[in-house]
Amino acid sequence: MKRHEHNPEDSREKAFRPETQAVRGGTNLAKKNGPLATPIYQTATFEVVDMDEQLRATSTDMFYTRYGNPTHTVAESAIAELEGTDAALLFASGMNAITTTILALLKSGDHIVAQRDIYGGSTKFLSQWLPKLGIETTFVDTTEYDQHARAIKPNTKLIHLESPTNPTLRIVDLAKVAALAKPHGITTMVDSTFATPINQRPAEFGIDLVMHSGTKYFSGHSDLICGIIAGRHDLIETIHHTRTTLGGTMDPHAAWLLLRGIKTLAVRVQRHNENALRIAEFLAGHSKVRRVYYPFAKSHPQRALAMEVMRGGGGMLSFEVDGTGQDARRFAESLHLFTLAPSLGGVDSLVTIPVVTSHAMISAEQRQKMGVTEQLVRLSVGIEHVDDLIADLERALVAVGATTQHVEVG
Ligand SMILES: Cc1ncc(COP(=O)(O)O)c(C=O)c1O
Repeated sequence: MKRHEHNPEDSREKAFRPETQAVRGGTNLAKKNGPLATPIYQTATFEVVDMDEQLRATSTDMFYTRYGNPTHTVAESAIAELEGTDAALLFASGMNAITTTILALLKSGDHIVAQRDIYGGSTKFLSQWLPKLGIETTFVDTTEYDQHARAIKPNTKLIHLESPTNPTLRIVDLAKVAALAKPHGITTMVDSTFATPINQRPAEFGIDLVMHSGTKYFSGHSDLICGIIAGRHDLIETIHHTRTTLGGTMDPHAAWLLLRGIKTLAVRVQRHNENALRIAEFLAGHSKVRRVYYPFAKSHPQRALAMEVMRGGGGMLSFEVDGTGQDARRFAESLHLFTLAPSLGGVDSLVTIPVVTSHAMISAEQRQKMGVTEQLVRLSVGIEHVDDLIADLERALVAVGATTQHVEVG
């Protein structure tokens, strides 16, 4: 099979639901007498018998691993099925997926419209790197669609979105933005990392490219780094050529681990959804908590939209402690079950302070506009028992009172 393509005949995925696609996707169900587990093609290159075969091999996934690899093909095909897109591509990291895609589709003189609330690394690439190549970005308020419309110029080639956003969990009306872009021939790309295709399938709303840091929920075990782009054949083909040149291909062994992670994606996400909703409700009722950001929380201003776009609220939530930045840091350090570490989306619960980690690389002014305060704590809720997680949070919230009292008295 041609690399990164997905063949609906093989898997007959049209009849299958996401839970089945996650486990069986990318495999040929009609095939017999082969290994059940996908083999790891841990090789840099593939041998041929003669020049004719060499020429035929160049456009397949058995030529040279920087171009493609059969282990990648299975994972890419499974992801395309889950996203409901023609094809998908793997990258060495989520950042590599974003940078390669933009470099593939845009040239000097082009313009991007991007949301203000996006992953800090994406903001840095758009605002600090692309201008060196003559590509300008206008940042707009995430939920102000008239701002998106006003920002569009004759040279706008891409609208870059993220939903839900990192770390304040704002939701984008994907259908509205797709409708805005279509008449201008502008490509839309959404970073759907927080949602996963179990909770949100942006292609259903007319979005052209779906991007993920596969490092997160797709892997699910915080043990690999990976990027994903899924979308239409023509776009994926162009991006593939650029990936081959820039060289951000995934290692086959890591791709195999990714594939293993994908098999449990649906059941993991279901538990992440349940745990995070319970925790959001617990935090919303706690006196030491000023504000909770969770898409399916009753207090979320876009809850109705979130429920339209998403099937579950996801495993990510943020909240502001009712105290100082120092309180937030002390709270995070006092947790036992929530491990103090950047990243998200794994089975283990993690905690971070965004001003120190995911958003440390952008200016304080940009952070302020995004609502990323010193008091903001981000939780990646894992799949442990929710009562144990809540007990951990309850105990650590005592640390907030201690500093608040100190500050007030002082
Ligand atoms: C929403 C989002 N997009 C993209 C990235 C970048 O992904 P990676 O670390 O795999 O390069 C991250 C990383 O934290 C992220 O949270």
